[in-house]
Amino acid sequence: MKKLSLKDLFKNDPQRAEKFSVSAPHLFLDYSKNLIDQKAFKLLITLTEKAHLKSALENLFTGKPINFTENRAVLHTELRNPKTHNKEILVTLDKMETFCHNIFNKQWRGFSDKPITDIVNLGIGGSDLGPRMVTRALTPYLNDHVKVHYVSNIDGSDLYNTLKPLNPDTTLFIIASKTFSTIETLTNAKTARAWMLEHFNNEQLAIEKHFIAISANPERAVEFGIHPDNVFAFWDWVGGRFSLWSAIGLPIMLATSPQHFRDLLAGAHEMDQHFRETPFEKNMPVIVALLSFSYIEVFHTQTQAIIPYDENLKLFPAYLQQLEMESNGKRVNKQGKITDYPTAPVIWGDVGTNGQHAFHQLLHQGTLLIPVDFIIALKSQQTGDIWKYHHDLLFSNCLAQSQALMDGTPDSVTDPHKIIPGNKPSNMFIMEQLDPKTLGTLIALYEHKVFVQGVLWNINSFDQYGVELGKQLANKLTPLLGEGSLEHLDGSTKKLIEMYRNSLSS
Ligand code: F6P
Repeated sequence: MKKLSLKDLFKNDPQRAEKFSVSAPHLFLDYSKNLIDQKAFKLLITLTEKAHLKSALENLFTGKPINFTENRAVLHTELRNPKTHNKEILVTLDKMETFCHNIFNKQWRGFSDKPITDIVNLGIGGSDLGPRMVTRALTPYLNDHVKVHYVSNIDGSDLYNTLKPLNPDTTLFIIASKTFSTIETLTNAKTARAWMLEHFNNEQLAIEKHFIAISANPERAVEFGIHPDNVFAFWDWVGGRFSLWSAIGLPIMLATSPQHFRDLLAGAHEMDQHFRETPFEKNMPVIVALLSFSYIEVFHTQTQAIIPYDENLKLFPAYLQQLEMESNGKRVNKQGKITDYPTAPVIWGDVGTNGQHAFHQLLHQGTLLIPVDFIIALKSQQTGDIWKYHHDLLFSNCLAQSQALMDGTPDSVTDPHKIIPGNKPSNMFIMEQLDPKTLGTLIALYEHKVFVQGVLWNINSFDQYGVELGKQLANKLTPLLGEGSLEHLDGSTKKLIEMYRNSLSS
């Protein structure tokens, strides 16, 4: 693979674009601009056999406890299975729809009998990134009934800025937390509760009208003051970063409609079927996973760029950061041994064409090899001639970037600072249009990519112990910001806390 020249590969094989492309529901992938030939491709497919991917995949879909460090199944695919026999899933979906209709029809009213106009989702990580990204991606599908806002950060500016223009009479909060113990979400929820109670002269009943919860820990939600009927369930077999298909998707439903949410699920299910049933040589998630895997293992790439040419997919790279990095940012294999090979890369990116005027310089002439995923729709979300021209430019720019990465400058360019070497790989994902179904397939595609890579790396993609230490240390440091001995701390932490204390007293 290291010796391959993309330009030569195309020159030598006029059929290359056809051979190295694949279709899945609502998505087309041209992966011909990758450093791969038939031989390398076959070897990568062989690797899936060695890694027993087929049986791993069945273990996923049939609910085996593949998250073995927590002894849990990983069944987010069941949430979007239209033939599911799981009553809890069906009941929860119905409950979500009823709730939406009650909000839309103004049957659900606030404590002062005014209809709800603004909904604030308080959650973080998987209880925020997915619904937030999807809501943004489906901008053309937003309804006029309510506006959905997202607050995640413990930095008070996030909640403060969001609440400033809102009226407590017409605002409803969703506390979205699987564990109902996450400090950011609970802190924001308590402040929001105080904001509400202040407005309603401490009338505790107001909380029931203005707060609902989504949690796998309903007892704690009820302790918070939420009426048991207003707690939406989800379960330990839904991982946080895979949870937008569960009740965690309620803000998506509220922002768009129950039908759009169902379409999102349907699209994801179509990708699940493709993943489960298609031979690996034509299986889009498997191919995407293998390509990215090969760059990491063979070329030792350390980052992967995600560049959607779609303003409404602005949050997609941030969403994928949690999905890929929290899942596969692991250093120990399933046998508890430290891996002697690299695992997940840094995922980053932003929308085109903006990136062209910011970081693309490094992609073209920097010293790092960075594989790129371009994502673009054939049709714009807007109709009309003026928008068509915008889309023509968007599309041609996207193609031009993948072309420039591959071709570089012609040999006639000799000034060293002008030479672009080319031979840089990229995937090109084409959608017909960014609609709920297509978005569902796109998200599920990356979920399955993560799964395949976890199997190849022989790691558990479904726990996240790496995030725990920081949480514990923060809990210990918080009381020390006010008072207490700092002598047990390292010099740096001690000094910085002293600075903080001084700033409080000055
Ligand atoms: O900090 C990591 C994490 O545990 C994520 O995996 C999860 O999505 C997020 O925190 C939020 O957790 P919860 O939904 O329990 O508040």
